[in-house]
Amino acid sequence: MWMDNEFLQGEMQYVEAQLKKALKTRNKTVQNALVMLQQSGGKRLRPVLTILGGTFGQYDSSAIVPLAASLEIIHMATLIHDDIIDDTKLRRGSETLHSMLGRDVAVYTGDFLFTRAFMLIADIAEVKLMKDISKSMAYICEGEIDQNEQRYSKGTTVKQYLKRISGKTAALFAISLAAGGYKAGCSKKIMNQLGVVGKDIGMAFQIIDDILDFTGSEVNIGKPAFNDVIQGVYTLPIIFALNSKYKAETEEALDKMQQDGGKSLRVVLEKAQVIEKTREIAKRYIEKAKIKTLELPDVVGKEILLEIIDQQTSRKF
Ligand code: IPE
Ligand code: IPE
Ligand code: MG
Ligand code: MG
Repeated sequence: MWMDNEFLQGEMQYVEAQLKKALKTRNKTVQNALVMLQQSGGKRLRPVLTILGGTFGQYDSSAIVPLAASLEIIHMATLIHDDIIDDTKLRRGSETLHSMLGRDVAVYTGDFLFTRAFMLIADIAEVKLMKDISKSMAYICEGEIDQNEQRYSKGTTVKQYLKRISGKTAALFAISLAAGGYKAGCSKKIMNQLGVVGKDIGMAFQIIDDILDFTGSEVNIGKPAFNDVIQGVYTLPIIFALNSKYKAETEEALDKMQQDGGKSLRVVLEKAQVIEKTREIAKRYIEKAKIKTLELPDVVGKEILLEIIDQQTSRKF
């Protein structure tokens, strides 16, 4: 298992220490909430990708570790804000920050985390990397804004869906992997390739996350299931069903959500076999990521990266 890799484990311990140091504030209430957020875990995929990206060049722990930590902090900040917008009560198996401390404090805490991330980045990064990270953050915001605009829209297209997840999720995966390569002095070609691989992993990751919203349980995923559709976020399974011969039935089921708690929706999604169809799309991104990764030089991170890529379509949380 890739998590057992000694090099990666060692580096991730440094990342945890770095996170602990960076997530300090004099406000005790927020401090406690941040400690909880860090300790409640999370898969830490983005910093892992940064470390792996760093192995494709001259790996320098003193620069890669803060960079990896900063990308996890950016991720944490987006989760805090995302949970406010999605009105979610549970994250990583714990109560969300906004439901503990209120929306106002949660907005500030997310912003506070962005400043912490940029302080770490400023210590180690060149202007070019700062610009690239800022761009990725802009894509995340744009993706989330698109999603907000498309809420409850039964006419959302596959193309619109792919565009919004490419912004809200895949952009951060792309920069996480590419930034590691950049800091390790990789050639432009390899860096670009890392960016493409990261993006495709991110696309598959979000598609699977969206499937898990239908098929997962609260205990497994650590967040409420079936929340997307309740919030009017129509993801690929719904979009596929709305574009199938079950269109009318799906529309009706969506309109009935309040009354029947999603019972008819589950029935029609099952009939239209859209979960399987959606999983196929995720698999396509995984295949693409794999092919591109195989073309990369043989370094210690390559095998681990391939393992991570392979795991994505079958993940349960
Ligand atoms: C959640 O990301 C947000 C999405 C992009 C779906 P993760 O599933 O990586 O969240 P943690 O960090 O493991 O909690
Ligand atoms: C990912 O989307 C959110 C961000 C990238 C900020 P989701 O809304 O699907 O994430 P979860 O399901 O709440 O973790
Ligand atoms: Mg959410
Ligand atoms: Mg989700």
